[in-house]
Amino acid sequence: MGHLLRGTMLHLLTGTYCVIDTILGDTDRTVELDLGCGKGTFALGLAALYPERLILGSDVMLGRLRRLERKAQRLGVGNLQLLRANNLDLVAYQLPPASVHRVHLLCPDPWPKARHRIKRLVTTDFLCRVARVLRPGGILHMATDHLPYFDAWARILQRLEAFRPDPGGISDIRDLHTDFELLWRENGRSVPHVAFRFEPRSAG
Ligand SMILES: C[S@@+](CC[C@H](N)C(=O)[O-])C[C@H]1O[C@@H](n2cnc3c(N)ncnc32)[C@H](O)[C@@H]1O
Repeated sequence: MGHLLRGTMLHLLTGTYCVIDTILGDTDRTVELDLGCGKGTFALGLAALYPERLILGSDVMLGRLRRLERKAQRLGVGNLQLLRANNLDLVAYQLPPASVHRVHLLCPDPWPKARHRIKRLVTTDFLCRVARVLRPGGILHMATDHLPYFDAWARILQRLEAFRPDPGGISDIRDLHTDFELLWRENGRSVPHVAFRFEPRSAG
């Protein structure tokens, strides 16, 4: 059972619910998901800050996840589970509905060139799939150094009434930063964060 999992482990998802059910278990722990966690400084920091929570870090880059797994094991972090999965698959069908309390999407690839924009992750469709996995009252937390992408998010989210701006939803983690964020800040770039509360009953 999921609640018996001890220590950080890397899971290669096959697309079945039961893999995720094993990881999530049947406890009523708070679950947070760091989508595209990369090298994982944020996910690791979050897991250390809230040892009673289950923190899921997902990415497609197996090498990064393996290094993160070893680091978490070295540090004795027991509540971080790593998922080798595609972001879209994860929220579209691999995670059970209403299973996550807070989703973090931090510094996703911005695909700045016009011809690459089609590859961007954040679309209305993607956010509706994120809504599928968020529990009512859950938080969507996003950040990017790429201001045009940030503006595009604001335009999309304005039209999704179930997501209400809620800066308080991330007030507890203001001191946690991602690897990319630290890099951008060192280079003098700002990395704005936004948070939205998912209130499905207010959907129009
Ligand atoms: C720019 S990095 C940001 C990493 C981390 N969130 C940070 O801020 O340091 C984007 C990450 O998303 C991952 N990624 C890109 N496309 C993905 C996808 N379709 N599914 C899962 N992860 C993806 C990349 O492998 C990379 O680790």
